[in-house]
Amino acid sequence: MSEELESFLTMDDFDVEGKTVLFRADINSVVINGKVQMKERIEENAKTIRELSDKGAKVVILAHQGRAGGDDFLSLEQHAQLLRRFMELRYIGDIIGPAARAAIKNLDNGEVLLLDNVRMLAEETLDKTPEEHSKSIFVRRLAPLADIYINDAFSVAHRSHASVVGFPKVLDAGVGRLMERELRALERAVHRIERPCVYVLGGVKPEEVFDIMEHILERKKIDSILTTGVIGNIFLHAKGIIPMKVDKYLFESVNRARRILENEGDRIKYPEDVAIEVKGRREEISVEKVKPEQPIYDIGKKTSAKYSEIIRNARTVIMKGPSGLYEKEAFAEGTRDIFKAISNSDAFSLLGGGHTSAAISDVGMDKRKMANAHVSLAGGAFLRYLLGKRLPGIEVLKRR
Ligand code: 3PG
Repeated sequence: MSEELESFLTMDDFDVEGKTVLFRADINSVVINGKVQMKERIEENAKTIRELSDKGAKVVILAHQGRAGGDDFLSLEQHAQLLRRFMELRYIGDIIGPAARAAIKNLDNGEVLLLDNVRMLAEETLDKTPEEHSKSIFVRRLAPLADIYINDAFSVAHRSHASVVGFPKVLDAGVGRLMERELRALERAVHRIERPCVYVLGGVKPEEVFDIMEHILERKKIDSILTTGVIGNIFLHAKGIIPMKVDKYLFESVNRARRILENEGDRIKYPEDVAIEVKGRREEISVEKVKPEQPIYDIGKKTSAKYSEIIRNARTVIMKGPSGLYEKEAFAEGTRDIFKAISNSDAFSLLGGGHTSAAISDVGMDKRKMANAHVSLAGGAFLRYLLGKRLPGIEVLKRR
């Protein structure tokens, strides 16, 4: 186990039989037309819950869906249905009221109870310290009914919310299996880097990506940054290779790209060719031929071949963000080629952030066959970890 993981208690440190375990899951899911979509978060959390239940724990699941006011802010009734594909489970549309507390007290060994969306409690999301949250009504009502708190929700560890930081202040607490895997992979990719180390950075959120780039270049533990997606276009523009309309939203990113090129130009790789749409079809052109205002939807074949070679020779690969508009099959090629290169490389790879995990299955790849890769299910927490920031939900779980 890595040095970082040695700071935590895991499920192996507890005898959970007959114990009431408050289990913080992150089953926050994509919602389309009011329907919660079944994705890995539900499947992966279900595995840990089943392990606890098989060991005779009385499992009480705390989880959220969406943010108050948003279209995806829902009760957890549909999540209960989806979780029932993996185990028997009771759902109660209550969190701290008499009904929820009676249901917790009546649990038998091995039974699982899902409470309602914890964000329905206003105090859950208040910006407070772990000490303050531990005194909330939420924690004061439920903690006395429980013996152990297990957090399997790495993807919400960047939030100092009551269900994340309040309970571990007052209960014996440890990390769940999914959290263990996430921490082990992140720790290896960020703190025990084997060189050559390559970052593949794409997607559509330049501010986030430039934060990561500046941070890793400053740490000097990076050999190449392969830019794709909007990020690649920004570098091509900053080099004066492609014309681009630079609105307010991109202005600062182009300046940051120029500064990076001045200081660290040899580590930054940008596309040689790109894919555009001509009469509804994919066409590849060299970057010098891109016309003003012409939308670029993917990296071209020469670029993915060059990038794949760099990935093949790497020992560590970190990927964030797809390489193009993968949602359209014609423009999924670049993203698929990068995933294939990662799959065929002996390098340890870490993939994550926003849509990266969804993109793997959407382009027809099987995550289970990416033997040396860890695919993080986290977005904001993944990003903050890469930036070397402390996550309140992790800090509060440290026991050694
Ligand atoms: C996520 O989806 O990244 C987590 O569930 C956290 O959700 P939040 O950004 O609404 O806190």
